[in-house]
Amino acid sequence: MNAPSSAIESVLVENRVFPPSAATVAAARIAGMPAYEALCAEAARDYEGFWARLARDNVRWIEPFTRTLDESSAPFYKWFDDGVLNASANCLDRHIGTPVEHKTAIVFEADDGAVTRVTYRELLARVSQFANALKARGIRKGDRVVIYMPMGVEGVVAMQACARIGATHSVVFGGFSAKALQERIVDAGAVAVITASYQMRGGKELPLKAIVDEGIALGGCESVKTVLVHERTASAWNRVAGRDQTFVEALQDRSTECAPEPVGAEHPLFILYTSGSTGRPKGVQHSTGGYLLWAKLTMDWTFDIRPGDVFWCTADIGWITGHTYVAYGPLAAGATQVIFEGVPTYPNAGRFWQMIERHQVSVFYTAPTAIRSLIKAADSDAAVHPRNWNLSSLRILGSVGEPINPEAWMWYYTHVGGERCPIVDTFWQTETGGHVITPLPGATPLVPGSCTLPLPGIMAAIVDETGHDIPDGAGGMLVIKRPWPSMIRTIWGDPDRFVKSYFPEEMGGTIYLAGDGAVRSAGGPAGSGVDRGYFRITGRIDDVLNVSGHRMGTMEIESALVAKTDLVAEAAVVGRPDDLTGEAICAFVVLKRARPTGEEARQIANELRNWVAKEIGPIAKPKDIRFGDNLPKTRSGKIMRRLLRSIARGEQITQDTSTLENPAILDQLGQTN
Ligand code: WT7
Repeated sequence: MNAPSSAIESVLVENRVFPPSAATVAAARIAGMPAYEALCAEAARDYEGFWARLARDNVRWIEPFTRTLDESSAPFYKWFDDGVLNASANCLDRHIGTPVEHKTAIVFEADDGAVTRVTYRELLARVSQFANALKARGIRKGDRVVIYMPMGVEGVVAMQACARIGATHSVVFGGFSAKALQERIVDAGAVAVITASYQMRGGKELPLKAIVDEGIALGGCESVKTVLVHERTASAWNRVAGRDQTFVEALQDRSTECAPEPVGAEHPLFILYTSGSTGRPKGVQHSTGGYLLWAKLTMDWTFDIRPGDVFWCTADIGWITGHTYVAYGPLAAGATQVIFEGVPTYPNAGRFWQMIERHQVSVFYTAPTAIRSLIKAADSDAAVHPRNWNLSSLRILGSVGEPINPEAWMWYYTHVGGERCPIVDTFWQTETGGHVITPLPGATPLVPGSCTLPLPGIMAAIVDETGHDIPDGAGGMLVIKRPWPSMIRTIWGDPDRFVKSYFPEEMGGTIYLAGDGAVRSAGGPAGSGVDRGYFRITGRIDDVLNVSGHRMGTMEIESALVAKTDLVAEAAVVGRPDDLTGEAICAFVVLKRARPTGEEARQIANELRNWVAKEIGPIAKPKDIRFGDNLPKTRSGKIMRRLLRSIARGEQITQDTSTLENPAILDQLGQTN
């Protein structure tokens, strides 16, 4: 059952306000709203001076920068351009000789529950040794390295080692298919792939190396000279002589010391592919200096991270959240963090709560989808309800990836946070590098379902198609009016697409268009003492879906479907609200043969789902597949997606259908199989 409109309504009427306790405010780094306002005022008064101060205080520079922001080739902005640094040195070397040196950097819990710990000192040695192994394979500053790995210490070591030698990494989520991996290897022109033989998830052993081989065999990957394989399990895998090496072989006799390679602040630290509304996934390119500044600073601001904290971000390193809040931010902040290999429901849906208790996690950061599925599990099995564990170590909770519905927010607040922990509902994107609109735990009065206020220095606004401000209370498009240090620099290999996607000419060509709709309340929440309007994200305004916090382009799924040329003539993909996954993928398909019904329809639908899983990955499988003799089109032949969205939601069609070439098709597509 879907109740999207009721969920949306309850956001609209949301009037519960949760101010931070006096004790939380007193102890926080940004202590109370006046402290937040003071930072915003500093940014408003002297924007460049504000960022320059923060960059000096938070980043270790090898050569200090003298220029803060260069707008001369906007929207290709440059930050701290003549500064020189190394990201890995900022995450590891900076702690040597401080109390952090012998502190635990990573507590790794494997799928089967086995725990290993690594200190900062040990991590530096492992990263340095791995960096030397990369160098020994001829990998140099500026080369691209694809990382296709499970969650574990090795994945973080691989990312940090690339950063250490100035190689640009591109992590591909381990759930993506051989084809998706190959496309990314080709686009990035990668010289090496770092992978694992297998990955362990929910007690199952899944191949990874075999998928790398399959991807490379698809062609165009001649640039790949090296494949490094972490042998995660004892199972055999196929070796390509000359190209493949195990981690053990690659690390043998390599020194555990490696001087960090100095790079310019604008040097591309990584490329991360994400879905857009059209065409192939885009390689979002991030800088070194600006990105690192924001990774470190948002750890301090949003999570108010302190020396005794145990931080746990449940995101995979294949997503931006796993870059900023696993591989870089926590290390730059000198925090102890938990890294988890497995899935939240194995061996049962109490795994997260059990791990929070076991590792005394104090700052916990996860996605609404996970929360909703754990609510459902706890509702049907009291044994996995969080009340069965002692979660008193928690002090801050976070949410990321999609809007959190107030019902899930309240459950998270009550049953996980014991009504004691602020929830930071962090709005951001692959392109923003780190949080941009979020509450601050020791300052912002919380409203369930609202990401509240922009971080200091982030000039977020809501505008119309021409870039003009929309009055508070009305909805519009979310933009950020000034460049900020951790923003996307370009789309790898496609600067035109970068400009077109994010800096529309109609808005003047220099303000960043997020691609989300948003509303800002008129004034702050009632009785909170805050007079700024709060932001609420209403969802994507382009053809991008958000399924379980994973970003999927409708066009990408359509292309995958029509690539099944023996079967599919035409396909259109839309999203519909789903209680568990936020949005669900709904595909309308016209076959090259007669429209199937009954058992045949179910069979073909399954065949198509498996096909999409092979083309992109299981996360892109359409939940609903409906067959028609045709798709609803205008007389000029344009597919009317608006109508398809209504049909997918099971709504009565109230829109004008008079321009439709073939109105009878609507009834047919309304039928489920
Ligand atoms: C899209 C970005 C942010 C890292 C993980 C996803 C949606 C993200 C929130 C939030 C409402 C959110 C937006 C955004 N989104 N966080 N707190 N509230 N919506 O990164 O894959 O680049 O997706 O996720 O629609 O545009 P991403």
